[in-house]
Amino acid sequence: MAIIETERLTLRPFTTDDADFVLDLFGRPEVARWSGSGELMTHRDEAVARIVRQPGRAGDHPAAGIFHVSTRAAGAVGMAMLVPIPASTCLDRDDLEIGWHLHPDAWGNGYATEAASALVARGFGLGVPALHAVTHPDNVASQAVCGRLGMTDLGLRTDWYDKELRAFRLDRP
Ligand SMILES: CC(C)(COP(=O)(O)OP(=O)(O)OC[C@H]1O[C@@H](n2cnc3c(N)ncnc32)[C@H](O)[C@@H]1OP(=O)(O)O)[C@@H](O)C(=O)NCCC(=O)NCCS
Repeated sequence: MAIIETERLTLRPFTTDDADFVLDLFGRPEVARWSGSGELMTHRDEAVARIVRQPGRAGDHPAAGIFHVSTRAAGAVGMAMLVPIPASTCLDRDDLEIGWHLHPDAWGNGYATEAASALVARGFGLGVPALHAVTHPDNVASQAVCGRLGMTDLGLRTDWYDKELRAFRLDRP
């Protein structure tokens, strides 16, 4: 998986050495509440297990990956991903999603948008025809990132994760 450099950020694969950071990230209620089951991470072992699962979650699409995001100035700030998006039961869909989780100390700097823009460029550069993002209906901060990326708001959809989520789509230019 490639290392991606942007103006301010470095995106690289996680290693288990990042477990303390992952625990600090998903051990924060204001981050965990918007991630997967919403459960707070409480043990380092869970962070290690999450990192170990990442290659399987990303799958084998050449553009896919789950990236550790750091600034050159301050170190680790979060994660950004381009991964297959699980279709809801009985739906025959084969889409890729982009997603982001930043440490609260790093919010408000444009880092999520900068990291996601790099993943958009990577996806489109490798021929992905469209990228989706799905957000909890109340997650206005994440929806704002989708807006900054120029994604189209699809409204509330049940096509993915067997949940009603506010979805966004960006087509390759
Ligand atoms: C969603 C989340 C990543 C958004 O983070 P964010 O920092 O607000 O988003 P961005 O990186 O796009 O930054 C935009 C903000 O930085 C500000 N900013 C400051 N300097 C900036 C710069 N150089 N460039 C761009 N924006 C900048 C913008 O004004 C904006 O602030 P505002 O919302 O107060 O107007 C963050 O809230 C988060 O991690 N939440 C918890 C996890 C989560 O919800 N994940 C998504 C699940 S779907």
